[in-house]
Amino acid sequence: MERYSGDPVLTTSAAPSSDAPSPLVIEATGVNHAYEGQEGWVRALEGFEIAIPRNQFLCLLGPSGCGKSSFLRIVTGLMKPIEGEVRLNGRRIEEPGLDRGIVFQEPALFPWLTALPNVAFGLEMSGMDKRAVAERAAQVLRIVGLERAAQLYPYQLSLWHAPGRSKMLRCC
Ligand SMILES: Nc1ncnc2c1ncn2[C@@H]1O[C@H](COP(=O)(O)OP(=O)(O)O)[C@@H](O)[C@H]1O
Ligand SMILES: [Mg+2]
Repeated sequence: MERYSGDPVLTTSAAPSSDAPSPLVIEATGVNHAYEGQEGWVRALEGFEIAIPRNQFLCLLGPSGCGKSSFLRIVTGLMKPIEGEVRLNGRRIEEPGLDRGIVFQEPALFPWLTALPNVAFGLEMSGMDKRAVAERAAQVLRIVGLERAAQLYPYQLSLWHAPGRSKMLRCC
């Protein structure tokens, strides 16, 4: 953190309006995160606070490198902040869960799996019954019109649309 010299860091806080009837779904308090690089520490989040009520559609906007993805990685449980905490429905986030999903910016499909097992991966990892997993994965592929792509590999899917949809479906 010593070498930080003024790059944009996500510090904005957004509180719900006082008359919001909904309980908070996501609540971040005092979140600090930094990465150790070859030239020292790089700060990503500094004293970040946010309170997101239920049913709110929220966009995090900020310049590249200000910490948006770092916050999302913490919310999805893929990473723990160095300091502070993020709570989901009142419980501190400690690990990933099926109650949260993320569509990565970069391609994140397993190239050795076809669309159906790619979509099914998260459910399988959750320990769900294999048959139920296959049914659910096939169902969500149908919903987005990818049922005919179920046995295709990522490289065989339409370059711009299907890989994105398959990634998104993995959240279901
Ligand atoms: N794995 C990493 N290792 C080192 N530095 C990282 C890593 N991920 C992100 N950073 C740095 O942390 C800061 C915040 O990055 P990030 O959360 O990806 O921002 P954003 O999503 O807003 O572009 C940036 O300075 C970025 O270079
Ligand atoms: Mg990002």
